[in-house]
Amino acid sequence: MANLLVLGTQWGDEGKGKIVDLLTPAFDIVARYQGGHNAGHTVWVRGRKIVLHLIPSGILHPGTLCVIGNGLVIAPAAFFKETGDLEGQGVGAGPDRVAVSRGAHLIMPWHPLSEKVSEDRRGDKRIGTTCRGIGPAYEDKAARLGVRAGDLTDLGVLREKIVDAVAAKASLFRASGLPALDPEAIYREYAGWAEKLGPYLRDVSELLDERMKLGQNVLFEGAQGTLLDLDHGTYPYVTSSSSTAGGAATGLGVGPRMIHGVLGITKAYTTRVGSGPFPTELSDEMGRTIAKRGDEFGATTGRARRCGWFDAVAVRYACRVNGIDRIALTKPDVLAGLGDIPVCTGYRYRGQVLRSFPSEPWILKEVIPEYRSLPGWPGSLHGAAEPEALPRAFADYMRVLEDLIETKVAIVSTGVERGETVFIDEELRGIVDPAKVRAAVGV
Ligand code: IMP
Repeated sequence: MANLLVLGTQWGDEGKGKIVDLLTPAFDIVARYQGGHNAGHTVWVRGRKIVLHLIPSGILHPGTLCVIGNGLVIAPAAFFKETGDLEGQGVGAGPDRVAVSRGAHLIMPWHPLSEKVSEDRRGDKRIGTTCRGIGPAYEDKAARLGVRAGDLTDLGVLREKIVDAVAAKASLFRASGLPALDPEAIYREYAGWAEKLGPYLRDVSELLDERMKLGQNVLFEGAQGTLLDLDHGTYPYVTSSSSTAGGAATGLGVGPRMIHGVLGITKAYTTRVGSGPFPTELSDEMGRTIAKRGDEFGATTGRARRCGWFDAVAVRYACRVNGIDRIALTKPDVLAGLGDIPVCTGYRYRGQVLRSFPSEPWILKEVIPEYRSLPGWPGSLHGAAEPEALPRAFADYMRVLEDLIETKVAIVSTGVERGETVFIDEELRGIVDPAKVRAAVGV
């Protein structure tokens, strides 16, 4: 049994969906541990684009069990929209394919409403959230006011929790000029979801334990990225969950020793959606060129992503806080033909050079990135199947990145399709056998 954790090392949108989908054939289970339908994981299969928000990216492989952990927050309507869309495309997403933790919290109708109020109140300090109610649902979890998926199995408990939560929200709603919440109407809506969601509900910690004892392999799937982590990201411009490696243990109820390797997904440049500091941001024509070439528009909200050069300070930090063993480098093809490519090697802050990523956003806002310019590569990377087929200048670029982030590259993604992938480092074989993956996805 060998389990792998796959997560993003930047501000999300690193291409985790493709890599998780690609590696799934080497695993029996794909388990998500945090976030909600704020995520957007895009997978391309033979020219068909499939965007997943809540369901783990392993769902496209029949026979793989997809698990939604207690660390997630679930909007039932979003869950059933997604399972329905998948079923409509011939992808099974019933209770035989998807297990939902009884401990996952539910997004309630008051969450998106109060989020809009708090974002508006922040004015130009707004976080730029996805407005899906994610943050307020986690707030209620911490405030011990949350409604959990397991509460749907006892309608008496469900009604009581809704009545209590609505009472607790009443003064905030009044003060914010929002219409009063009707607990009975909300109860009726969620009692309806109870019947539909019931068959999916499981004790996920126990389920994973049983399966791992049978020798089954688990791929733990992160959403968002390290720099959006509630504790380790660029707080307060972060999401409200633990997207870093530690979140996998608490978000699924597995011991940390069940995580045998950590693969960081890293884009060859940097993007960010929403507000917050971004030292290597390009606000010029080059930024717009990268956005266009990389199709950098949010999979969830359609918002244009901010783009910038590769930031080795940030990624080295991500490798540290997650204990990353290997990197999958995505979208380097976007940089082909752009000439020399600057890479941020350090930050200058009030006359000093910082080599470590500062956790305070007001420092990060002020830092001036120091760049090293690396020779670009003129030709496309498309079609390269073996490491030897990659252009020399790209291989050199990759070696420099490895030195800067102090972590080796195991996989290079050269395009959106499963087959557009080069396995560089056979050491990943300890957990993932590239031959098995290639055979299963037919490349
Ligand atoms: P929230 O997760 O909706 O609360 O948004 C908080 C911040 O995280 C905002 O800057 C969002 O743009 C960002 N965010 C949330 N989910 C994703 C994602 O999947 N990719 C990139 N950014 C995200």
